[in-house]
This record gives sequence, C-alpha cells and structure tokens, in this order.
Amino acid sequence: MQIFKNKVILITGANRGIGQSFVKALLNSEARKIYVTCRDLKKMPAFDADRIVPLQLDITDDKQVAMTAITASDTEILINNAGTLSPGNMLQGNLSGMENDLKVNYFGTIKMMRAFAPILIKNKPSLLINIVSIAAYSPLPSIAGYAASKAALYSATQSVRIELAKKDVSVYAVNPGAIDTDMNKGSDWNMPDPDSIAIKILESIALGKLDIVPDDMGQGMYAAWRDEPAKLSKIFSDLYHGENYAI
Ligand SMILES: NC(=O)c1ccc[n+]([C@@H]2O[C@H](COP(=O)([O-])OP(=O)(O)OC[C@H]3O[C@@H](n4cnc5c(N)ncnc54)[C@H](OP(=O)(O)O)[C@@H]3O)[C@@H](O)[C@H]2O)c1
Repeated sequence: MQIFKNKVILITGANRGIGQSFVKALLNSEARKIYVTCRDLKKMPAFDADRIVPLQLDITDDKQVAMTAITASDTEILINNAGTLSPGNMLQGNLSGMENDLKVNYFGTIKMMRAFAPILIKNKPSLLINIVSIAAYSPLPSIAGYAASKAALYSATQSVRIELAKKDVSVYAVNPGAIDTDMNKGSDWNMPDPDSIAIKILESIALGKLDIVPDDMGQGMYAAWRDEPAKLSKIFSDLYHGENYAI
C-alpha cells in the first residue's frame, strides 16, 4: 500500500479495537511516523517501533485537540477513529447517553477536522479518514442515539469532502457493519476481527474509494438501504424485540 509509505499519520482512539488494528497494519505499510493517540496513555499498548509517537488526546477536550494540532503539525493522514456507543432506543433510551455519543462521535470529530484542516491543506496531498458506521444509513433501534450521531457525522464528512475538494485533501467515509471489538462485547453475532477489517479499509483507501463499507454485513445493509430504506425497517423489526412500552 504505497499510499501510506513514508507518510505521517495520526490515529485517534489507537489504544484498542479498530484503532489499534490500524496502527499494526500501518506499521507494516512503512508509514514514516504514526501519532497514536488515546485518552489515557497508560492504556496504550507497546507498539515497539521508533516510528510510534504516543500522545494523550480526548477529542472532546478543546485544549488537548489544540495541543495535538501543534505537536502533530506534520500530519499528512488523519484517521478519526475514536467513538463511543450508548445503547438505547429513540423513544425510551437514556438521553445523556445519546448526548455523549453526539459529543464524541459528532462534535469531537468536528473539533478534530477543524483543528487539522489547515495542517492537511499545508501538507497536501493529504487524506482525512472518518470512521463512521453502517448505522449512519441503517439505524438499528437498540442503538438509535449512536446511529443518529453517526448519521450526523456522515453528513459532516460529506460537507467537508466538498469544502476540501479543491485543496488536495481527499476525504473518506468508512461505514463498517458490526466488528468484533469491545463496542460489541456480549454480542453473539458472527463478526469479522478488527485486524482484517483495518487492512481491508486501508486497501480500499489505497484504491481511492472514498466511500467504504468493508464487511459483508455492512454491504448487505447498505444494499438494502440503497434499494429502499423501508426494507431495512423490515429486516430490523424481525431482529428487534424492543423495550416494553408502558401504554
Ligand atoms: N465495532 C463496530 O462494530 C463498529 C462498527 C462501525 C463503526 N465503528 C466505529 O469504529 C470506531 C472504533 O470503534 P471500535 O469498535 O474499535 O470501538 P472500541 O473498541 O470501543 O474503541 C473505541 C476507541 O475510541 C476511544 N474513545 C472513546 N471516546 C473517546 C474520546 N472522547 N476521545 C478519544 N478517544 C475516545 C476509546 O478510548 P478509551 O479506551 O479511552 O475508551 C477507544 O480507543 C468508532 O468510531 C466506532 O463507532 C465500530
């Protein structure tokens, strides 16, 4: 994957899950420097390479975002991977969980895009990669707030793609289905592992695909949505047994 060779890359939420898998895959792709960021550096795995630069970064914290942009001003590829998921449906789910998902997934990622847009423009040609979710298209009711935060992020990603189109910054939207990480702990679904998905995502980026659905489950949901969004309601209402409504 030549596109990553000798590049300076920053990844948010790099301490576990898909973020950690990106780091491993990018080390194999001969990236020049990888800023691996996370909220608590004590939780960062030892990646054991001189090219790794760990930084503390909570993407909702304005000061930390600003400091990171100063320290990592040589970034050429930004991977906005950090995210949270609060379960709950739209009509009865916990509102503070929904607000937190918006705060991290939507506003946190916007803060990162705003802080790094001038850097990516300066260091062009550059890449901005947002890890969104298939939930942006297909809101499973048991994670309705998360889905709404990802739909908002998907919209923001498309706006920024246009805003940066003439600046030589390519903006990617990655919309996976369910992947076997802590985010899906306890689920009995048959899910792909994050290492293989991270490689698939990077391969698609290398091919210049701006909209990426890297897994079979995501592809199926995307196809149903593209055909007719109401079809997803049918699939999900068969899967979803719902909360009990007080009538
Ligand atoms: N797994 C899936 O099925 C799936 C599907 C589609 C999309 N995605 C998206 O893929 C991305 C990675 O998810 P994952 O499955 O790898 O989840 P994960 O294993 O739960 O990891 C989430 C990562 O985000 C970090 N994070 C959370 N809040 C943060 C904040 N305010 N600032 C900085 N970092 C923060 C976490 O850090 P801490 O360790 O400090 O909590 C952790 O590193 C997310 O955006 C997720 O929405 C996942």
